[in-house]
Amino acid sequence: MEIPSELIEQLKTAKSVIFFSGAGISAESGIPTFRGKDGIWNKLRPEELANFDAFMRNPQLVWEWYNYRKSIVHQSKPNAGHLAIVEMEKYFVNVIVITQNVDNLHRRAGSKTIYELHGNIERNFCIKCKKRYDGELDFKDGIPKCKCGGLIRPDVVWFGEFLPADQFQLSEKAARNCDMFFIVGTSAIVYPAASLVHVAKSNGAFLVEVNIEETEASSLADVSLFGESGKVLPQIIELLKLIKS
Ligand code: OAD
Ligand code: ZN
Repeated sequence: MEIPSELIEQLKTAKSVIFFSGAGISAESGIPTFRGKDGIWNKLRPEELANFDAFMRNPQLVWEWYNYRKSIVHQSKPNAGHLAIVEMEKYFVNVIVITQNVDNLHRRAGSKTIYELHGNIERNFCIKCKKRYDGELDFKDGIPKCKCGGLIRPDVVWFGEFLPADQFQLSEKAARNCDMFFIVGTSAIVYPAASLVHVAKSNGAFLVEVNIEETEASSLADVSLFGESGKVLPQIIELLKLIKS
C-alpha cells in the first residue's frame, strides 16, 4: 500500500497519538463484528441481548450469550494489528488506546494506556450492591448471584446505558490534546463514542482511518488507508522504523 506523503510528515513529528478502535481490529482474531456482512446484529437483536430490561426478563439467556462470546474471546489472541499498536509506544512520546471493544485484546497484547468505553467482558458486577466480580463465576444455579442476593451482570455497556464516566472523560481529554488520531476498524456510528472523532478533528488532530471500507468517519479523515488493520498497522511500523532510525 502506498502511504501518502502527508501521513509520513505527520508520523515524523507527532508526539501524542491515539488509536480509537472498534470491532474490526479484532476481526482477524476471529471475533465477529457487529455490523456488515457477517455482523452479529444481522442475526441477533441487540434489544433482546444487550440491554438491561432483557437481562431482567431473562438473565439466563443473556448470560448464555455472554458466556458464548467469552468462549470465543478465550479461543482467540491479539493479532498483528493489536501488536503493532503496542509497538507504536517505541516511536511516540504518548500512545493511548481508546477502545469500544470489550474483548480485552488490547490489554492482552500489552498496550500500556487503554480507555475502555464499553466495558470489559472479563469483569462483572452485582446489580444491587455494585461489588465487582472478576474471573470465574458460579453458574450452578443458572445465574451467578452476589453474596447480597443481587444478580451479577457483565461489566459491559448495554444499549440505553451511560458510558463509564471516567473512561469517557479521560478519552475526551486525550482526544483534545493529541497530534494524531487513528480510527481503526470501527463503523463510527455509535455515539457518544464516535463523538471523539469530532473532538479530535475540531482540536486540530490529524485523522487517519484504517478500515476495509468507507465509514461515517471517512469524510472527516485526512487520510484513509483501506485494508485490514492487521496488515496496514504493521506496515506503518515498518515505515516508522525507517523514518525514526
Ligand atoms: P461495527 O461492527 O459497527 O464495525 C466494524 C468495522 O470494522 C466496520 O467498519 C468494518 O468495515 C471494519 N472491519 C472489519 N474487518 C476489519 C479489518 N480486518 N480491519 C479493519 N477494519 C475492519 O463495530 P464497532 O464500530 O466497534 O456497542 O461498533 C460500535 C459499537 O456497536 C460496539 O462497541 C457495540 C456495538 O453495538 C456496545 O456493545 C455498547
Ligand atoms: Zn451484591
